[in-house]
Order: sequence, then structure tokens, then C-alpha cells
Amino acid sequence: IKCVGILTSGGDAPGMNAAIRAVTRSAIYGGLKVKGIYRGYRGLITDEIQEFHTQNVSNIIQAGGTILKTARCKEFTTPEGRQLAYDNLKRHEIDALVVIGGDGSLTGARIFANEFNFPIIGLPGTIDNDLYGTDSTIGYDTALNTIMECVDKIRDTATSHERLFFIEVMGRDAGFLALNGAIASGAEAAIIPEISTEVDQLAELIQNGFRKSKNSSIVLVAESPVTGGAMGLAERVKNEYPGYDVRVSILGHLQRGGSPTACDRILASRMGAAAIDALLEEQRNVMIGIRNDEIVYVPFSKAIKNDKPINRELLDTLRRLSI
Ligand code: F6P
Repeated sequence: IKCVGILTSGGDAPGMNAAIRAVTRSAIYGGLKVKGIYRGYRGLITDEIQEFHTQNVSNIIQAGGTILKTARCKEFTTPEGRQLAYDNLKRHEIDALVVIGGDGSLTGARIFANEFNFPIIGLPGTIDNDLYGTDSTIGYDTALNTIMECVDKIRDTATSHERLFFIEVMGRDAGFLALNGAIASGAEAAIIPEISTEVDQLAELIQNGFRKSKNSSIVLVAESPVTGGAMGLAERVKNEYPGYDVRVSILGHLQRGGSPTACDRILASRMGAAAIDALLEEQRNVMIGIRNDEIVYVPFSKAIKNDKPINRELLDTLRRLSI
């Protein structure tokens, strides 16, 4: 391998820039050329490709978002789109790719890698933490800290007015942000998709008398349709359990922004360096993960479309601490 292309794809996540910097500098350190591909797979198709030198990634480790821009690209899901992408890679003499993104982006990478027998290494870049085989994804820790700061602020008004707040957080179909965000912010409960089909979490919450010793309460809700979302749950409370002064707050895209935490910068730096090691070791079609503080290679087939389990101990901890 002589030249590696790098792109970010799907939802941006804080720490993506730190990963771009680490991939670029490790590659150059290892004697490889680097080309930055703008706007994810879309830029690969429309040929938005530029050579990167070490100074292209100066002064970005602290910045949120992604200097390479990102996109969700429909065309890349078609064989015609992927052919155009392949032709551009050949023309630019790029012979391996590092793709930074979430489940959808790595699914695209897997299909492309198999179709053209092209070496790709994935880096888990998503605030959702929903990729299997890694304890954490790039951006997750920063989003968790953002959620914690927001909930701390909402708690002030919740307490003053003695209200019940449903705070909706992101996560797509996963409850990691909601569950860990609830523990970190001292919320009364988290309503998450992973156990939505097992129990009626709202009924359980109310029947257990969750406000026995408190006047205000905060419940974090994962955005997934199976939880009903914060709006759906607030409606249910109004109809089924009248008497609560309920409010809803949807944190939305502010969870994706901001300067990455130290944990995310270090994670992204280690993973970016590991992506180049993996390529030089002739690894193919694996995602870089971290487990018990050790870098691991997770085959794409395992990392994506594979339900990552939540840690039940966290559920139990939250329950015990919210009495
Ligand atoms: O995957 C990251 C994420 O922020 C999810 O938590 C959320 O469901 C989705 O992206 C929102 O996507 P968009 O920014 O395209 O609306």
C-alpha cells in the first residue's frame, strides 16, 4: 500500500477531527501518501479528493465536527454509484481507505470492500456507541458529557417548579446515551429501547412510586420509536396518570457538537494510529475497536447490524441510586 484515502461519513461526532489527524500523521510517519476525501461517499463519487500533508491537520484536535465534511449518500447504495467511486479511487492511485463513521457507513464500506476486493479499515465514529466489539465509539464520551451538562441545567428549573421532566436524547435504536446519561446526571430513570419490549418502563416507574421522597423528577428517554419518545411518554402520563406537572425537553443535535473530551481525543488518536498499523499488517475489512483498554480488530461482519448488549448492571445501579 502506497496511498491511503480517508473520509468521514454519516452523522458527525466530536473526535472525528482527532481521528483524521491521527490517520494522516501516522500514515505519513509510516511513509504513505494520504488523500482526504470530502463529504463522505458522495465526495468519492463526485471526485472531491485532495492530497493531505501534516499541516492540513494542524490545529484540529480540539475542534468538533469534521474538517472533511460528511454526508449520508444514497448513490453509494447503488452498484453504479460504487463503480464511480472505485474509478475515482483508481484515478487518484488510492489503494486503501480509512472510513470513519457509524453503522450505516461501515455497512457501505463492507459492501464496497467485498465488491472490489478493496482494503478498508473502519473507525467507529458515532455518538450512539452502538457498534459491536468496541467498548466505546469516537464521540460517545463527549455527547455523554454534553447530556450531563444539559440535564444539570434542566434540574434547576425542574426542582424550582416541582415538575416531572422527560428529556429525550439521541442514540438511534440504542439506549447507551440515555442509560449512562441518567447515571451521570443523577436522573430518576432511563427509558431505553433495549428493554421496551420486556416491560412497560413507564408503568413500572410510576407504580414503584418513584417520587416517594421527591417533588421533581427527571427521566431520560432514548429517541427510538419503541420507547415512544419523550413526547409520547408525556402524553401517556397526561392521559393515564393525571396529577403530574409534566414537561418535555428534546436535546437534539446539540448532542453532536462541541470540542471533544480528553477521552475522545485520546481514543480517536489511538484508533487512527491503529488503523494505519492494521493496513501495514495487511488487515482488511475490520473495524478498530477498544476493549479493556486494548486495541482490537473487529471484522465488519461482526461490528455492524449486530445488537450490542447494554450492561444490565448499569440498569440495576440506576434503580438503586434513584430511591
Ligand atoms: O447516528 C447519530 C445520530 O445523531 C443519531 O443519534 C440520530 O438518530 C441521527 O444521527 C440523526 O441523524 P440526522 O442528523 O441525519 O438527522
